[in-house]
Amino acid sequence: MKNFLSVADVSNTNELVQKALAYKNNPLVDKHLGAGKRMGLLFLNPSMRTRLSTQIAAANLGMECIVFNVGQEGWSLEFEEEAIMSGTTVEHVKDAAPVLGKYFDILGIRTFPTLKDKAEDYSEFYIKQFVKYSGIPVVSLESATVHPLQSLTDIITISETWNSPLPGRGAGGEVRRPKVVLTWAPHIKALPQCVANSFAQWVNAWGEADFVIAHPEDYELDKKFTGNATITHDQNYALRDADFVYVKNWSTYTDYGKIYNNDPKWMFDNAKLALTNQAKVMHCLPVRRNVELSDEILDGANSIVTQQAGNRVWAAQAVLSEVLENSKRFPAFKTI
Ligand code: CP
Repeated sequence: MKNFLSVADVSNTNELVQKALAYKNNPLVDKHLGAGKRMGLLFLNPSMRTRLSTQIAAANLGMECIVFNVGQEGWSLEFEEEAIMSGTTVEHVKDAAPVLGKYFDILGIRTFPTLKDKAEDYSEFYIKQFVKYSGIPVVSLESATVHPLQSLTDIITISETWNSPLPGRGAGGEVRRPKVVLTWAPHIKALPQCVANSFAQWVNAWGEADFVIAHPEDYELDKKFTGNATITHDQNYALRDADFVYVKNWSTYTDYGKIYNNDPKWMFDNAKLALTNQAKVMHCLPVRRNVELSDEILDGANSIVTQQAGNRVWAAQAVLSEVLENSKRFPAFKTI
């Protein structure tokens, strides 16, 4: 794996999931793989889970990590080609990224969308500028339209839960595919479509689930991510017999970045859970309690959000190991 920007960089989703689960069983098995290597984690936006889990994953592989909160501590970056920099931006990515390429062997980057310019966001302009100018492997820590480390984590979590010997599930003898439902939930802010896009893309690539997406009218996602998923505006219908429910808000895609609906009836609570097959409930976090998900769900036995967030380490470790192994075959790494 040269870069990790989306599921398209993964040759076999299931193999990557199994690798992550093997790391979960034996975190330090590859503790020398990243020896002498250094990863830069650049955050243009806030983070808790991504930042910490990636650092832990790198440490498990023997790799040093340096975090740089560009959005708060760095010079304001310019991304437009041929910009006349007489405004507020101080440094062009063309100048900054090659320097980062000298300091680091792998670059992790988190950027968010503008939610104003759909064409620019959906071209993944910002992260691609770092790929173009850094000259080193780039790992997405969430970009304008996708969050692949989160989605890999989500598939890992569904896979291990479905295949664990719980009553009526997986290793208990069950061979059917799980029914996985992604449902929109209300939120007070206009949020990116990244997590929903990415989850849909990864579930489709994984191909091991019956996949349903429920959202209010006018909240359609880009079809390039949803593929052949069943899509409905009837949340109760979608939830029927669900084995996993992934709850997430997103803003409108067609009329880009808007909030059309904040109907609290879409919040996932125990009445909704009762429609499911005792579904396990997922959310990427951070979550707005009693807006997206009720307290009773988050504090109840069906929530697997903490297990899910814990698995961020193993997803990151599997991805970083793939990038490190690739760079051993094609050694472009440098010392300063
Ligand atoms: N889920 C997720 O990416 O969390 P952070 O924003 O805290 O990294």
